[in-house]
Amino acid sequence: MNEIQTRAVAERLSDRFTDLYGAEARSRARLFFAPGRVNLIGEHTDYNGGHVFPCAISLGIWAMVAPSEAAETRLHSMNLDEHASCVVQPGCWVYDPARDWANYPLGVIQTLREHGYLSGALDAVFWGDLPNGAGLSSSAAIEVVTGLACDSLFGFELERIDLALMCQKAENRFIGMNCGIMDQFAVAMGREKCAILLDCETLQHRYVPLELGSCCLVLANANKQHKLSDSAYNERRNSCEEALEDMRTARPVVSLGSLSLGEFEELSPHIVSPVNFRRARHAVTENQRTLQAVELLECGDLNAFGRLMRASHESLRDDYEVTGPELDALAELAWSQSGVVGARMTGAGFGGCTVNIVKGEAVKAFCSEVGAGYKKRTGREASFYVAESGPGAREVPFA
Ligand code: GLA
Repeated sequence: MNEIQTRAVAERLSDRFTDLYGAEARSRARLFFAPGRVNLIGEHTDYNGGHVFPCAISLGIWAMVAPSEAAETRLHSMNLDEHASCVVQPGCWVYDPARDWANYPLGVIQTLREHGYLSGALDAVFWGDLPNGAGLSSSAAIEVVTGLACDSLFGFELERIDLALMCQKAENRFIGMNCGIMDQFAVAMGREKCAILLDCETLQHRYVPLELGSCCLVLANANKQHKLSDSAYNERRNSCEEALEDMRTARPVVSLGSLSLGEFEELSPHIVSPVNFRRARHAVTENQRTLQAVELLECGDLNAFGRLMRASHESLRDDYEVTGPELDALAELAWSQSGVVGARMTGAGFGGCTVNIVKGEAVKAFCSEVGAGYKKRTGREASFYVAESGPGAREVPFA
């Protein structure tokens, strides 16, 4: 988004804020932005103590926020034209399925209150250009933008990593989605033109320049949201934990992410359930692929990186079983296109997006041919976005 477009977004948020909460509140409001993320490789490894390789993108969620003297926190979504208000009190767990999107910011506010950071209420208006439920971390974006706004307006001076951890905690405890740290970390810590190699066990990380030469990152949205994704996600996580427990009967193991392929081969006969064995095999092999993929990218071997993206998708399809017919169709169609260097599902799966590395001159044909093939195979329309890697969450100066 260029400066003129950003200004137009800010003005629309400002007008709606003034309509809803008045000019006096508007004079105290500030504007914040948190991006979505795309994970290039390293899927379902974060909660297994492995590595991930995401980057923040330029699409995201804006929030205009002011502190309020009232008892109630008031939230408004411009995308949905929906309003939610709530008295957030310590110890009062306010999750409400009827509130839908508003549970995410409320969960962060509640978590910050429980940690003694926040005592007052807020007025906020949100707007985003990030498709919801597309596996691009709209949840982490709304969490982090809320957390950053609270941090800046009330001056807690939380470290960025702690902000990400608070938001993850809110999602685990409040929403009941036992996600790992990848999304909140990428959204809070992203850097322009870089992806982040993150060790999810230690949170040690390093920025890797995302040098794709003449290629672009193209996101293909299956336009399918999976309603059961949270419970299926938690199930996968439990399977991995059970597999780890089984291997620990043989000897101490820190996490699936700490195992080499050889160690896994030696210990995996202790895994009782064949399903759990496949889940664990994905976690271990995917972690190794991630480390290898980053090395290849740093050597400029994009084609080899692309081959590992494909292997990642196949493992998510066959061992982890989180792809589904829509994402498989998008990935398979992409693999058969000329000009495609790599393609795989990104995010939790069960719907959402594929990430594709496509040669610049082939992007147009890619979108039309994969789009047509997808329609033929599934009856659905896909949407395509050329993603730019961008910086992490930030305040947007606005008078
Ligand atoms: C979701 C979760 C992340 C991660 C991915 C799968 O996006 O929020 O923590 O587990 O799924 O890699």
